[in-house]
Amino acid sequence: MVTGAGRGARTPAPAVPGLRVAIDGPGSSGKSSVGMAVASALGLRFVDTGLLYRALTWLAVRREVALDDGPAVAALAPDVELAPDPAGRLSRVRVDGHDVTRSVRAAAVDRGVSEVARQPAVRTALVAVQRRLAADAGIVMVGRDIGTVVLPDADLKVYLDASAAERARRRAVERGLDPDGSETAAIRADLERRDAVDSGRAIAPLRPADDAVVLVTDGMSFEEVVGRVVHLAEEKHAAGGSAVLDGRTTA
Ligand code: DC
Repeated sequence: MVTGAGRGARTPAPAVPGLRVAIDGPGSSGKSSVGMAVASALGLRFVDTGLLYRALTWLAVRREVALDDGPAVAALAPDVELAPDPAGRLSRVRVDGHDVTRSVRAAAVDRGVSEVARQPAVRTALVAVQRRLAADAGIVMVGRDIGTVVLPDADLKVYLDASAAERARRRAVERGLDPDGSETAAIRADLERRDAVDSGRAIAPLRPADDAVVLVTDGMSFEEVVGRVVHLAEEKHAAGGSAVLDGRTTA
């Protein structure tokens, strides 16, 4: 897996250099948009690790690899590339030189990605990629197991949650649907199904790290959530939370 970390990035000088922020939570809890806004406020790099699982799923479907054949799907990892968008965030997915960022959000990927994400060989391959991305500079990394597995020594761990009803409502509004309509009920059912697979899998299940700050965002505006996370990061920074800042080495 080649990644474009740092290449072509136009990220401003970080306000909190070296800080590593892990944001986990269930689907449609707002992790990605919150993480992106936090990274931009703090001048840190941003990676949404769900993109990696989605990209592998998309590629496996395209190459007709069985989604439950973990080693075969994991073997596709080197063909997927995360690339920077104009703001320097690794929010683009490229395969064989083509930008497939839109395709990885397709319904077929939504349906298959939990199956791919529960394969041990896939997780091993992608955890290594994610750790490399976080190795040498500050970052906001978003996913399901960032605080528990990928970056257990992250400076700040946030677990963003919201009720299934609220998450389905937000997703429906994003898609221009009636939040009280039958499509929203279907979205909610699909979210609950994926939550159950993600939380119930044997390896790296979705759960808050013991030292995560859990934010339940029902009734909070987007700006409030971003403000809370930025504030928490600044507190960590002020307390010398970053290993890079204070020269401590971490395990
Ligand atoms: O956040 P998302 O909906 O794009 O994630 C897609 C899938 O990938 C979801 O089923 C959970 C899985 N995933 C994971 O298991 N671990 C991560 N760090 C990120 C995503």
